Amino acid sequence: MTSQAPSRLSELLARLAAVKGQARSQARAMSGEFYTSPDFAALERDRLFRTQWICIGHEGEVPAAGDYFTTELVGEPLLVVRSADGDIRVFSNVCRHRGSPVAQGAGNASRFVCSYHAWSYGLDGRLLAAPLMVESEVFKKKDCALTTLASERWYGYLFVNLDGQAAPLAPTLAAAIPHIRNYHPEQQHHVFCADEVWNTNWKSLVENFMEGYHLSPLHATTLHAVTPTALCEKLSDGPAFTGYRSNFHPDCPERGPFSGDLTRQEQRSDVFYCVYPSFVVGFCPHFTLYMCLRPLTTGTVGIRWGVTGMTADPQSPVVKDYVEFCKKFSAEDRMQLERLHIGLHSRHYVPGPLAPDAFEGTIWDFWQYISRALGTE
Ligand code: FES
Ligand SMILES: [Fe+2]
Repeated sequence: MTSQAPSRLSELLARLAAVKGQARSQARAMSGEFYTSPDFAALERDRLFRTQWICIGHEGEVPAAGDYFTTELVGEPLLVVRSADGDIRVFSNVCRHRGSPVAQGAGNASRFVCSYHAWSYGLDGRLLAAPLMVESEVFKKKDCALTTLASERWYGYLFVNLDGQAAPLAPTLAAAIPHIRNYHPEQQHHVFCADEVWNTNWKSLVENFMEGYHLSPLHATTLHAVTPTALCEKLSDGPAFTGYRSNFHPDCPERGPFSGDLTRQEQRSDVFYCVYPSFVVGFCPHFTLYMCLRPLTTGTVGIRWGVTGMTADPQSPVVKDYVEFCKKFSAEDRMQLERLHIGLHSRHYVPGPLAPDAFEGTIWDFWQYISRALGTE
């Protein structure tokens, strides 16, 4: 019997570097350490999550002035606020006095008052008041606003760039628009949102969302009847995204209501996109399902997922039925990905070949991106 020795970080980076330019027909899965190494995860935090555009939610979560929610990204507390002018800003959720988070959870507020010493901030982040700060010579109210982070909205999705150095996001996604525009995501209503933590690596969930190979076997009683594996096809990718289409089984009933602009093919398929590194979205004729992923540890991923659609009422049966359907097949994915993460720790795991482009080509694209973004040589 032989066993594979655990590869070190340098070997993993060399393997990633080799992915660049390798023929797709030669594609093999990544080693377990790609998903389990704390050193590699630290590199991802620095070179992906602190430097790239990361989706942290949807504008539908903050529809009115004063609406806010808090989240975090690689340990950075964040505060997302709709201000009085209708703009949505992303702040560092850290008080400019001695560093306490100034807001918790989600809700509606006219100002944010830090629970520690009651410094208060407006919806635009400006410091409004700081009790008893009369003798300090270094205190200037105008210098103590919450730090505003670079943010961008794309079809209603909220992206943040922690280091403020990333090039604008929208132009990098322009090539995907022809496959998306007819769904009119900008007209859809935000009808459901939830936060979850799964015990798997964030990349495993990106890969799972973006490959159709598992649709028939894993989702035998849910998605197979709608979008069987055999009917999947790869869409063209770009430097910032990849995508695939899952065509409906001929026996699958119409899924509506949908936009009148959908072509017949769009009425009879779903399209899935990953905006690198960690935003995945599926455009179905009647609803859009999205997931904003954040690495918590190598083996845990924070998921903010939600649904938008042409139906406005979150309580309508068509919405409730679709959300329940999503929960059902997501439970199957979660069970599988948490099981997968156990297997990826094995020293006996020898990475196998990837399935053809139509089924797992998006995974190959994703790794090419990671290789580029990490600057592997
Ligand atoms: S840390 Fe916020 S007021 Fe002191
Ligand atoms: Fe799945």
